[in-house]
Amino acid sequence: MSGVEPSALREILALTSHSRVVSFAGGLPDPELFDHEGLRLAFERVLAPGARHVFQYSRTEGDPELRAAIAGRLGRRGLPTAPDDLLITTGSQQALALTAAALLDPGDTVLVEEPCYLAALQCFGLAGARVVPLPAAGPLDPDLLGELVRRERPKLLYLIPNFQNPTGRTMTAHLRYEVARVAADHGLWIVEDDPYGELRYRGEPAPAVAACPGAEDRTILVGSFSKILAPGLRIGWLRAPHGARRALHIAKQTADLHTSTLDQAAVAAYLAGGRIDGHIAGLRQAYASRMQAMLEGLANALPDGSTWSTPDGGMFLWVRLPEHMDAEAVLPAALRHNVAYVPGSHFFTGRSDPACMRLSFTAHPPERIADGLARLGAVLQGAR
Ligand SMILES: Cc1ncc(COP(=O)(O)O)c(C=O)c1O
Repeated sequence: MSGVEPSALREILALTSHSRVVSFAGGLPDPELFDHEGLRLAFERVLAPGARHVFQYSRTEGDPELRAAIAGRLGRRGLPTAPDDLLITTGSQQALALTAAALLDPGDTVLVEEPCYLAALQCFGLAGARVVPLPAAGPLDPDLLGELVRRERPKLLYLIPNFQNPTGRTMTAHLRYEVARVAADHGLWIVEDDPYGELRYRGEPAPAVAACPGAEDRTILVGSFSKILAPGLRIGWLRAPHGARRALHIAKQTADLHTSTLDQAAVAAYLAGGRIDGHIAGLRQAYASRMQAMLEGLANALPDGSTWSTPDGGMFLWVRLPEHMDAEAVLPAALRHNVAYVPGSHFFTGRSDPACMRLSFTAHPPERIADGLARLGAVLQGAR
């Protein structure tokens, strides 16, 4: 553990839990938008009198009904999937941890986008891997990827192709095909982490990397119900090609035998109840207007010379303040003014960019977003 840093993000989240704080920090769904009634009905169904199996141990790969339902949803999104391709995990975070445990030996190299989702870096660090970042500026460059693969000989490439955490960036279809080609040429595993893919607010979906020629038998696709249903359920999944399944299955057994029988059954019942698509459509509508409110407010709030991403979905915007500013140094003043964000430096493994910050737009309605941006603007003006 000595080589793995604790998550500074979790510490910031602890400071921002008070209701006074307008927090743009966490990637949190708005609890007001949880389908409380639908989830209550689903739990009621699985807790019907006499239904004792939901309290029992169950199989490692997960609830058959839940796996069939996820396979069906993936098929409808253009990725033909059999229930046996899937392993249910305790949140998609566990899918990342299992993948690292199953595929990596100490000293192996992992390529990641820079900046990158912090807790994935922790998983790779814990597995003893050497993490090599793909440079930050602009979208991933397939030529540079090929060059780095030849030079660094990585075993695995970690990607968040849809609405990346933290930048909000989405990979084009062309880029996905190119990445698949490079991976096939060099025998590279790909981890395609996709917790946000169904939260698209504009534009057309691109194919999953797992569906691109050359990547089919070397991509582990990771998904989650955290952002589209409720993170407290801790239900995620991975879709693995045949060659990785046995190792992943053993890793899951050693981690926790299986994911909660009760919670899996409740999510399966929720999906069978037919409410999920309507619920996701409602989330999309609400989050799209929140993203718009944030995009509209940023020009006034941020100092001249700032730039920011304009995502097509997900939960995050990536801001770059003028060169001389340091988002980490400004955070204590922001917290005193009851507004929070995550300094961008936490998402870098190589040379960090202190002028960056990640803003999440999902946790508050548009009026509170405007209020939070006004406070952030005042703090940043004072810090110039
Ligand atoms: C990119 C990414 N992957 C995985 C996760 C883990 O999510 P969960 O374990 O709740 O499914 C998150 C959570 O924020 C994330 O942003």
